[in-house]
Amino acid sequence: MTRVPEARVAKVAAGERVDVAMTVNGTEVVVSVPPRVHLADALREQLGLTGTHLGCEHGVCGMCTVLVDGEAARACLLFAVQCEGADVVTVEGLGSPEEQHPLQQAFSAHHGLQCGFCTPGMLMSSYDLLTSGPRGTAVQPEELPVEMSGVLCRCTGYRGILAAVADVAAQHPDGLPAPRNCGHRTLVGRGGGPPTARADGSAPDAAGAPPVPAEVRLPAGAPSATVEVRSELGAPVDRVWEVLADFHRLAACLPGAELVQVLPDDRYRGRATVALGPVKLAFDGLAQVVEHLPDQHRMRVLAQGADTGGSATQADIRLAAEPAAEGGTVLRADAALFLSGRIAQFGRALAGDVSRRMFEQFAAAVEESARSGRAPTAPARPPGALTLLAGTLAARLRAALRRLRRTR
Ligand code: FES
Ligand code: FES
Repeated sequence: MTRVPEARVAKVAAGERVDVAMTVNGTEVVVSVPPRVHLADALREQLGLTGTHLGCEHGVCGMCTVLVDGEAARACLLFAVQCEGADVVTVEGLGSPEEQHPLQQAFSAHHGLQCGFCTPGMLMSSYDLLTSGPRGTAVQPEELPVEMSGVLCRCTGYRGILAAVADVAAQHPDGLPAPRNCGHRTLVGRGGGPPTARADGSAPDAAGAPPVPAEVRLPAGAPSATVEVRSELGAPVDRVWEVLADFHRLAACLPGAELVQVLPDDRYRGRATVALGPVKLAFDGLAQVVEHLPDQHRMRVLAQGADTGGSATQADIRLAAEPAAEGGTVLRADAALFLSGRIAQFGRALAGDVSRRMFEQFAAAVEESARSGRAPTAPARPPGALTLLAGTLAARLRAALRRLRRTR
């Protein structure tokens, strides 16, 4: 007689977190979640994979469809803790902007998306249909309305969606290509998720403080905003570089930032606050110097931070100090910003404007520190709503005047 193994019963209090190890888009991750959290929330909030959309959270609309162990599943109906050891593929794993999956290309070619809210569910559901359906890609166009009826489109864009799926089925009679954006690599979606996420397997410290990732990882895909700023300083380039090369002084020049802990491998743990109107965000995060070229006065810093409200930012920042005419310095910063959560509502233009205003404050503090040889006398204040908005409006006004002059 076959012996059925006894079920392992583990009791977990409602607020207690459980570590769940799974593979998401080819990368092994560990998420730490309360047992009531469903897979879609874990993907979106812990891993920043916001491509999995939530419509009904009752298993009706199909927006949250992902592949679990190769089969389509409603991520709102699965608890994350049920996915221990599972292999999950989300829409981010299907293809990247550089290498789209044929289904993504066909949705674009056939105008299969309007607002795009149902698109992740439609893509993952149609992928499942054409790979795991009874006859693989041999699906007849007239069967598609029924086969695809598990995902609802609020824009009623079905005609284009069904044409896209029929096209891919016809183009790939011998089987559908596998997802193109899976494989062990730098993480996954946009945004780093709150500090409980442990996509890299790092452990919380003994004091129970949020875990420190072993390295800063940037998401795949295009940044939310890019910023290029320059400031002319009166201090000579060597004195400016002294400030940039000393992370304590550098951190003291960053508006609203506070250096909390110096870690091995050129990593720095810190806090930063930003207030813009009613939106006040306090980020806990990590910065890592990944390139340091004293001869050229250049450095590259990766940073990531998350606040308790679910906003997350990641940034790839390149700083350079170059000699300017008359002995001064041109301080440059190029940054690629990845935003998610509430902060993403700032939008591309405002994120750029806010970053520019912060850089102006940073440059002024670097100038003061370079001249005095010490950290700035007053800690750089967090950027406030009025300062930022006034600066932003003034910059936009200046740009509008410049455009007006050019058209005359
Ligand atoms: S959100 Fe999961 S089916 Fe609607
Ligand atoms: S394209 Fe808008 S919900 Fe389908």
